[in-house]
Amino acid sequence: MRDITSYVSDIFLIEGGKTLRGTVHVSGSKNASLPILMATLLTEEKCVIKRVPDLLDVRTTLELLTQLGADAEYENGTVTACASRSLQHITPDHLVRRMRASILVMGPLLARCGRAVVGMPGGCSIGVRAIDQHLKLFEKAGARVSIRHGYIHMEIDKINPVEYTFEVITVTGTENALMLLSKCERRSVLRNIALEPEVMDLVEVLRKMGASIEIDGRTAIIQGSDSLSGFEHTVIPDRIEAGTFMVGAVMTFGDVLLKDVRVDHLGAIMEKLKEAGATVEVINPTEVRVSMRKDRIAPLEISTAEYPGFPTDMQAQFMAMCSIADGTSYITENIFENRFQHVAELQRMGASIKVRGRTATVVGVDKLSGAEVYSTDLRASACLVLAGLVAEGTTVVRDIYHLDRGYEKLEEKLKSLGASVVRVPQR
Ligand code: EPZ
Repeated sequence: MRDITSYVSDIFLIEGGKTLRGTVHVSGSKNASLPILMATLLTEEKCVIKRVPDLLDVRTTLELLTQLGADAEYENGTVTACASRSLQHITPDHLVRRMRASILVMGPLLARCGRAVVGMPGGCSIGVRAIDQHLKLFEKAGARVSIRHGYIHMEIDKINPVEYTFEVITVTGTENALMLLSKCERRSVLRNIALEPEVMDLVEVLRKMGASIEIDGRTAIIQGSDSLSGFEHTVIPDRIEAGTFMVGAVMTFGDVLLKDVRVDHLGAIMEKLKEAGATVEVINPTEVRVSMRKDRIAPLEISTAEYPGFPTDMQAQFMAMCSIADGTSYITENIFENRFQHVAELQRMGASIKVRGRTATVVGVDKLSGAEVYSTDLRASACLVLAGLVAEGTTVVRDIYHLDRGYEKLEEKLKSLGASVVRVPQR
């Protein structure tokens, strides 16, 4: 992989009008890999994690682990990590600024070192991305937390068991809490937790390390251990990458067989695609075929929600599909306050979209037209690539850095399905 900074301004050139046909192997999940890599800090023993996708965010996380004093090797999708030595407790600010998910280091560092200094995460283009729930949980568990000069300073003498109800369902907030409390030998109860498959994959890992974690609805009961062991784990497939290819198959009126997926994580996505008129055939628990045999895409009403509801990380991709549906669609974003950055870029391609508050009204048009568009965040850039696949003429998608954060070998996979996508490195 090239040096991270050289990615900033690559572009994609996409010729529209190709149909996606064939088979695609979906990679391991970015949002499961990141917390699991951070969890390796909780033990001095060796950890082996398989099916880790080769993404910028994974590289950034490995860089963070090594800068804190852990060893972390990455070879053919497998990470071997070992935090055997005493760790640095101050995280390098440039890494936290580069990747918001670096906040997942807080729970493990606090648990392992009894203290942590982490730069306040930048907001990002999809919203403020508060972390108040993370900090409230840490304080409940006995940490002294203060924010000074843009840094979060935390110290804890002993991890107290907690009974805490999250005021907001938060994925990384739940993950930070689980990692901290996995080192507390007394029983804790967390309520209103996030149930995303990526959170459950971390739970599997923490159980392998020696923590007892029971999940009942949105309640978790944790009995941790002061000496957690190393583990071996294969990361779950990336449901958002899978969903992105499924939408591409429908938008291009194609026929794509997805392999190495977890069909049981794709319920809400498959339901919405069937409503749009797609044929969705579950071959077995890890294979699903998506084809579009009708000649019109039906408009949709979408409202994003926490898992198992419709995922916010699929909202932009579905908006690209609704832009060419036969009628008017309504898309409501309930999770983030500003996750419609892709609307202006889709409008440059001829989409007819109006945003009022949290709802975008998308009036389907016959054709999008190729244009020069800018990626603003990871899933928005995926939306623009999908729009480029069906637009008339050439679409130039800029700042592909955003895509490289979360999609492994996207252009190769799309090309293998018949798309015309070329990456042009910009110097
Ligand atoms: C995770 O972000 C994912 N990232 C996001 O995926 C995903 O969009 C999001 O969950 C929602 O599913 C990773 O897992 C690394 P949240 P996270 O805390 O944990 C508010 C992608 O594209 N909130 O569940 O940061 C927050 O402002 C990325 O892969 C608080 O108010 O999201 C938001 O409105 C983008 N206080 C809502 O809750 C808090 O302390 C959900 O945020 C925490 C969150």
